[in-house]
Amino acid sequence: MKSRLDKALQSQGFGTRKACRLLVNRGAVRVNGVLADDPDADVECAGLVLSIEGVEWRWHETIYLALNKPEGVECSHTPTHHPSVFSLLPEPFVTRGVQCVGRLDADTTGLLLLSDDGAFIQQLTSPKRKVAKTYLVTCAEPITDAQLSSLAAGVTLSDAPEAVAGEGERVSERVLRLTIHEGKYHQVKRMLAAAGNHVVSLHRQRVGGLELPVSLAPGQWVVLDEGGLAAVRGG
Ligand code: URA
Repeated sequence: MKSRLDKALQSQGFGTRKACRLLVNRGAVRVNGVLADDPDADVECAGLVLSIEGVEWRWHETIYLALNKPEGVECSHTPTHHPSVFSLLPEPFVTRGVQCVGRLDADTTGLLLLSDDGAFIQQLTSPKRKVAKTYLVTCAEPITDAQLSSLAAGVTLSDAPEAVAGEGERVSERVLRLTIHEGKYHQVKRMLAAAGNHVVSLHRQRVGGLELPVSLAPGQWVVLDEGGLAAVRGG
C-alpha cells in the first residue's frame, strides 16, 4: 500500500498532518534511511522504516503491544490515584489511539495487551469468545481443596446471573494458578472471596496462548509480531 509521506506519518501517531509536514520540512524524517524532503512524496508502507529525530519506527497498519504492567498504574486515560499505564508508552502509540485490551486493577501486575485495532479488542474482550486468562494468585489463607472445588464448580458473583468457574491449580500453600474465561470487574478477587479466601496479590501470566515474555521487565513493552498475535488468538 502506498501513501503520501505526511499521511503515513500521521497514521503512525506523529501528530496532525500539519505537524507531520513540519517534521519533514525541518529535516527530522528519514524514510528507509534516506533523508526526506517532500511531505507529498509517495512511500510504500509495507516494510517502511521511518526515522524521526533519529529514532526508528517500523510502519504498522495496526499495532499490538504486550506490556508487563507494573503495580501502581491504572488502565485508564484519566487515572484517579496512580499514573496512567499510557504514560509507559511512547507518545505516538497513544496518539494513534492504542487502548487496553481489557483492564487490570491498579495493583495487578503482568501481561496487558494494548492495540489500536478495535475489532481485535472487541474479539478478545467479547464474553462470547471466552478467551482464557491465567493468573498467579497469592492468597491470604492456605488454599483448601474445598476452595479449589468451589472455584471449579463455579461461584456466584453479585453482577452475574450464572456462576463463574475457573480452572485452579495449587502452586504452593497460598499460591494458585487460576484460568478464567470472562473479564468481569475484580473477577479473580471476587471469586476468591466467594470461595472463602482473600487475594493478596495478582499477576497475569497468560492471555489466550500468549505467555508474558520472560524478557519483559515490569514497565516494559514489546510490539507483537505475527507469531505473538497467533499465540494470543490460538489459546
Ligand atoms: N481479576 C481481578 O480481580 N483483578 C484483575 O486485575 C484482573 C482479574
